[in-house]
Amino acid sequence: MSAAQDIKHDAAEFRKALGSFATGVTIVTTRAPDGQALGLTVNSFNSVSLAPPLVLWSLANNSRNLAAFQSTEHWAVHVLAAHQDVLSGRFARAGEDKFAGIDCEIGLGDVPLLPGCSARFECRTTFQYEGGDHTIFVGEVLRFDCGDAPPLVFHGGRYAHATKRDSSNVVPRSAEATKRDSSNVVPRSAEVSGSFSEDFLGYLLGRAHFRFYARIRPLLAQEQLSDEQFFVLSALTLRRSVSVASLGQGLAGILEAEAQDALASLVQRGLVQPLAGDASAYELATSGAACALRVISAAKAVESEVLEKLGVADSPALKLLLGRLLTVIDPDAVKLWG
Ligand SMILES: Cc1cc2nc3c(=O)[nH]c(=O)nc-3n(C[C@H](O)[C@H](O)[C@H](O)COP(=O)(O)O)c2cc1C
Repeated sequence: MSAAQDIKHDAAEFRKALGSFATGVTIVTTRAPDGQALGLTVNSFNSVSLAPPLVLWSLANNSRNLAAFQSTEHWAVHVLAAHQDVLSGRFARAGEDKFAGIDCEIGLGDVPLLPGCSARFECRTTFQYEGGDHTIFVGEVLRFDCGDAPPLVFHGGRYAHATKRDSSNVVPRSAEATKRDSSNVVPRSAEVSGSFSEDFLGYLLGRAHFRFYARIRPLLAQEQLSDEQFFVLSALTLRRSVSVASLGQGLAGILEAEAQDALASLVQRGLVQPLAGDASAYELATSGAACALRVISAAKAVESEVLEKLGVADSPALKLLLGRLLTVIDPDAVKLWG
């Protein structure tokens, strides 16, 4: 942690420090007295009280929406779901018709309600407070609904994913458990660091890979395909034609011989054919395209089954992190199938 800052002199650092507090993202909507639908992206939303049910958020005093929110009674807070980052961006920009093309419901006080959110709270203003360069609105929740969609997260000025930690980390915790954890128990990752163990990235990736493919292999066996032949067929569904050299690169440059063997056997079976006019490139034959479609859709079904167990929030987060890991380890991978 850096030395304490005098915030009068370092507004940017203050903003950065505030950004270290991870929040959800909401859109607050209302109906202006002239009938216009208004809304803006807000992450200052917070719960205040359970009984009575109260929430708050703050609005910049230079907002074009201030007068409307000060005079209307009703507004609605929409907790955005992970896939709604584009919507968040739209409601954070001035000067466009933010509601264009959105099929809104109409809530209490004629307030427009956005679809597809993690939760919605329909509120009536109970207090307004001056809060420096913002106005704080406290509202009583009159009605709410809530779904299972994972939330959009905002942290350090960027959108983020929320992934759940394992179930041993649920809150609230017993005082005894807290005491035990804060004593001299060595964190699991520290315990195993430096050793080749179940915490080793290579082990996790390798075992996950082999276990995942163990489910796909019976499907490949039905088509008499090896892993490498499956790779060649899938590569050829992504690109119309593929050269032997890029197939080798696609197999991470370490299985070039296997890629060549796979290609030769697929050609022999009539599933792949040399590209007319280019002796160094190959394309799918009609029977190869049908075979690729069968195995890819079966493999996708296995993927869906596995990811469903992981959950709707963690699946996209896992893919995002694996994608980032790949860019770190193999920066050229992104160019492969572009
Ligand atoms: C993630 C995020 C959170 C925001 N939170 C707030 C907030 O809590 N209060 C606020 O006044 N503006 C907030 N803003 C900025 C407003 O969304 C933005 O200024 C918007 O353009 C205001 O709408 P208007 O231009 O129609 O007045 C936030 C923007 C983003 C991207």
